[in-house]
Amino acid sequence: MSTYYNPVEIYSGTSGCRQLADKLDGEYANVSSILLLTRGGGVEARESLRPLQSWMQKRTVQLKELSISNPNLTDIVSLKTQLNDNDFQLIIAIGGGSVMDVAKAISAIQHLKISTVEDLRSAIAEGAYALDKVTPWIGIPTTAGTGSEVTKWATVWDTELSCKYSISKDVLYAKKALVNADLMQSMPLRLSFSTGLDALSHAVEAYWSVMSNPISRIYALTAIEAIRTYLPRLIYDPLSIEIREQLAMASLYSGLAFSNTRTTACHSISYPLSLIHGIDHGLAVSLLLGSVARINEPALIEREKLYKAFGVANVEGIGQTVQDLYRLYQIRTTFGNMG
Ligand SMILES: [Fe+2]
Repeated sequence: MSTYYNPVEIYSGTSGCRQLADKLDGEYANVSSILLLTRGGGVEARESLRPLQSWMQKRTVQLKELSISNPNLTDIVSLKTQLNDNDFQLIIAIGGGSVMDVAKAISAIQHLKISTVEDLRSAIAEGAYALDKVTPWIGIPTTAGTGSEVTKWATVWDTELSCKYSISKDVLYAKKALVNADLMQSMPLRLSFSTGLDALSHAVEAYWSVMSNPISRIYALTAIEAIRTYLPRLIYDPLSIEIREQLAMASLYSGLAFSNTRTTACHSISYPLSLIHGIDHGLAVSLLLGSVARINEPALIEREKLYKAFGVANVEGIGQTVQDLYRLYQIRTTFGNMG
């Protein structure tokens, strides 16, 4: 495959929020009602989001603070029911992967007649979502991260049937994304670690995916090198904005990489580990990188570039790098130890 496609307009850096607000002023001047999804904690009031706050102040904003992790069918239907009378025209999601997954799911079904879990399950199974009218959404990640601000799919779990679904269509890409490291500065180390490993896994899997292309591989290599360099430094200086910026951009690059390839075996194997055994997503995925790398080695395209990005000599170094990170962060290093 040699085509690369990603339509998300991305804002970053210190002037990113101002530029985003200016753009919204022109493009979304007619929007009068906004659904604002966050994880709580007043993140939307952060100083670095002031231009966005000013833009929203002129409009009706319905704030929903989500306590959902890994949203399931019930969560989505329940939220949709609560929102039913509110005809918002834009969704702004400030949060981690789960908040952005909810944004995509609501964007896909806001204008559909879905009122039960069964309705939603059938709509997903038949691809009968994001049909005529899709609500535009803007992604502002607070973790580094899932890369969900630049991918077109959302994961929705079905706890009743013990499985997961992917809602995925081109129209579900965010219209715009704002990457602002200031929002990640106070992220706890454990969360920084697991989300950083998730981003590392997205990049590695994008690199060796059969769907990879020359552009996605460049994004993947850039992300891998930055994460393996800066994740170890973060533990000694968690408030460093420079390190947070490097990791925020690495997460974005890994998102751009796997937005075109999807994930591969590590993610597939990890889902039951998370669903049944409750192992954190980033940990479950990254613990598989070393073993899957050994299996994939014969088919790797330009494997030296991958090793160089990891700063290692051979395929064994990939698993070793992950193990070293686990030890540094004092995380148990085997599935057995995780129970
Ligand atoms: Fe992931």
